[in-house]
Amino acid sequence: MTIIRGATTVDNDSKEEIFSSVKSLLDEIFEVNALQKEEISGFLFSLTTDIHSNHPAKAAREAGYDFAPLFAAIEPEINGGLERCIRLMLFTERKDKNVKHIYQKGAKALRKDISEIYNIALDGPAGSGKSTVAKILAKDYNILYLDTGAMYRACGLKALRLGVDPKNREAVEKMLPGLNVKVEYSGGAQHTILDGEDVSSAIRENAVSMAASSISAHPAVRIKMVEMQREIAKSMSCVLDGRDIGSTVLPDAKFKFYITADSKIRAMRRFKELQERGETVEFEKLHAEIVARDKQDSEREFSPLVCADDAIVIDTSEMNVESVVAAVKAVIQSKI
Ligand code: DC
Repeated sequence: MTIIRGATTVDNDSKEEIFSSVKSLLDEIFEVNALQKEEISGFLFSLTTDIHSNHPAKAAREAGYDFAPLFAAIEPEINGGLERCIRLMLFTERKDKNVKHIYQKGAKALRKDISEIYNIALDGPAGSGKSTVAKILAKDYNILYLDTGAMYRACGLKALRLGVDPKNREAVEKMLPGLNVKVEYSGGAQHTILDGEDVSSAIRENAVSMAASSISAHPAVRIKMVEMQREIAKSMSCVLDGRDIGSTVLPDAKFKFYITADSKIRAMRRFKELQERGETVEFEKLHAEIVARDKQDSEREFSPLVCADDAIVIDTSEMNVESVVAAVKAVIQSKI
């Protein structure tokens, strides 16, 4: 089940105004989420005590939303609360949590965090903990997580499979027209699709990391991937992790963080991650690879790994996941 939230205010306490406000709220929720009747389990409205002339549930029924149980309840009177406000929790059968919540008129002030499209950019070197934090933020804020590294990994994997040297610009450019990378979401997780095949697991192999770093240095590859990333970020709120999100992909992102850590600590995190996947890699070798990848990602000419001027830097070397998430959330709350 997924709940879609909505709220609106009514300009005056008349039957007509309540009808048109409730209808407009429901119409927008159904339209932007492309909702079908069959997906709806119930409507739960609440209203402030200064509304008397009609029930929102009755107005909804009159507006044609009569295909699932409707219920309305009075909200407690809270000092300083919004006047003549109607809120809605719409219970749906959707599995996908990436729904749009709608706040209209005076109610827009209530939940700017969920009613406006916003992006959180998390940049930083390999193993800094960006993806762990990004996944938690996406879950807690009920927004999409876009792992942009996975897209470059898919490009790297294709090159490896075709025997194309990921460093060879000409050969990579020849491969590009036949390269089809997509991201899909199911079960709350990103699935990276390469030429129709789900490669989400294959791209995590250690051999793919360096290929991804090398291939991502070519402008033609980046242009293709960045276009997709911008398209996704513009259509819904999301947290994106990568190397150039705050600097190049979304320079106007509302929230920007640069997550970093000591290279040995990052190598140890990757070491454990690979061990858990059943891959055995020597720690020293892994550390050397991470240092080489940092160098290659930061020194490439086109859109390198860089800390955007307005990004908040968090060094996670001595921090656990919970404290990094808390630090990021504190900044987000202070800016909302
Ligand atoms: O985050 P990751 O380890 O999955 O990324 C793999 C490689 O992809 C990384 O070494 C550099 C490249 N990359 C990039 O250039 N730009 C991004 N936004 C994300 C990743």
